Amino acid sequence: MPERRESDSEITIDGRPVRVPEGVTLLAALYAAGRFATRRSLSGEARAPLCGMGGCYECRVLVNGAVRRSCLTLAEPGMEVALILPVRMTQEAEHA
Ligand code: FES
Repeated sequence: MPERRESDSEITIDGRPVRVPEGVTLLAALYAAGRFATRRSLSGEARAPLCGMGGCYECRVLVNGAVRRSCLTLAEPGMEVALILPVRMTQEAEHA
């Protein structure tokens, strides 16, 4: 397990608390947390980041309810990060 540093921040990823080093992108935080898919396509298939530099938009996640590219967004304390699900899957989860 990595050493915990004073400068680490805590964010949540799909409701789970995750400690991340200061200055890392959300994409790095997602990878460190073992999350390699950031959203689901309309047909429900997992989508993952491709470019790591802002061009492909495949790394979009919800950050405090707003869509952000995780490769261009620095992790900040208290951020709530969530996988983007199609409306159909969100409705199914609400009725499960
Ligand atoms: S990984 Fe391509 S835009 Fe973020």
